[in-house]
Amino acid sequence: MEAVVARHKGAPVSLERIIVPDPGPGEARVRVRACGVCHTDLHYREGAINDDYPFLLGHEAAGTVESVGEGMTGLAPGDYVVLAWRAPCGTCRACRRGMAWYCFDSRNAAQPMTLEDGTPLAPALGIGAFTPLTLVVAGQCVPVDPAARPEAAGLIGCGVMAGFGAAVNTGRVTRGETVAVIGCGGVGNAAIAGARKIIAVDVDERKLTWARHFGATDTVDARSADPVQAVRDLTDGFGADVVIEAVGRPETYRQAFDARDLAGRLVLVGVPDPTMTVELPLAEVFGRGGHLSSSWYGDCLPSRDFPILIDLYRRGRLDLDASVTETVGIGDVEEAFARMRRGDVLRSVVVL
Ligand SMILES: NC(=O)c1ccc[n+]([C@@H]2O[C@H](COP(=O)([O-])OP(=O)(O)OC[C@H]3O[C@@H](n4cnc5c(N)ncnc54)[C@H](O)[C@@H]3O)[C@@H](O)[C@H]2O)c1
Ligand SMILES: [Zn+2]
Ligand SMILES: [Zn+2]
Repeated sequence: MEAVVARHKGAPVSLERIIVPDPGPGEARVRVRACGVCHTDLHYREGAINDDYPFLLGHEAAGTVESVGEGMTGLAPGDYVVLAWRAPCGTCRACRRGMAWYCFDSRNAAQPMTLEDGTPLAPALGIGAFTPLTLVVAGQCVPVDPAARPEAAGLIGCGVMAGFGAAVNTGRVTRGETVAVIGCGGVGNAAIAGARKIIAVDVDERKLTWARHFGATDTVDARSADPVQAVRDLTDGFGADVVIEAVGRPETYRQAFDARDLAGRLVLVGVPDPTMTVELPLAEVFGRGGHLSSSWYGDCLPSRDFPILIDLYRRGRLDLDASVTETVGIGDVEEAFARMRRGDVLRSVVVL
């Protein structure tokens, strides 16, 4: 079947024929119905994650279980699932401490999917879902309410969960707090979740319009205003209780550091590339107190959190539909990357 593969660093992706093995013990093969185009896919293509080409891209997907390995319990063909890139092992030192969202040995399918010549593919985030069929480990399949359409439900599998979880799980944002979100793409907009004041910062006016729709109380265009000063001005001169960095760059990290109130929390959810470094005044790191944290996948437990987000969606409390700017075909991922770069979309979703 045809799948979206990144063969070389920086080169446009191509549609390649791939082989998806029958599921072995503990594995499931999933008929992908929709998969969002996340900025992390572009990072893979650019070589910003690692050099394990060829990559099978796509990791923000919903679909239906097609077949399961022998002896499987708890998951059956026909189950409607959102795919997770975290499937806690249950036995590593993080899992044993009851902090499975840090699992250091998250599970993936044991068998590789390959190109037709047998070259193993590295699936993005252990999923690889820009393909009609993909192979994952059963723990990556999280059953959810089939009433949630796949274009919307799939977004929970990465960007929405990462943003929402960065605010709720990592940042522990409470209603009475002030929050600033720097970078309001698919991830940042999902971090705009229920607080007294939520300041959205971006360099693109369209993103700020979307942010207002998702509940931002104030917006700052960082091209025309100093975002640190603007956040302070909007918080009685103090800075925000929680600042969420959803860009992944040193300059926006520094802005997030400076836009925090004393004892505030900074949550880095944007993914930097391996060449990036930051320099911070150590006296301020100490003197301001609070927390500097990073958020992998919103510190989520997929089996706990995905059904919650689906319920919020079904009740109209989480507008996933507004994040689906367009649906496209499997041959359109390169064009979707271009639209993402231009800021034309919150999410392009590939429908299979
Ligand atoms: N931590 C995780 O688990 C996780 C999961 C998914 C994605 N991510 C990462 O989150 C980041 C955002 O992903 P996305 O899919 O929302 O990307 P996106 O391209 O949709 O959004 C990025 C946003 O940042 C804005 N931006 C760029 N430069 C800026 C600046 N200087 N100041 C303010 N805003 C700026 C852009 O205009 C855009 O709206 C990426 O780095 C992605 O890899 C992390
Ligand atoms: Zn573990
Ligand atoms: Zn992603």
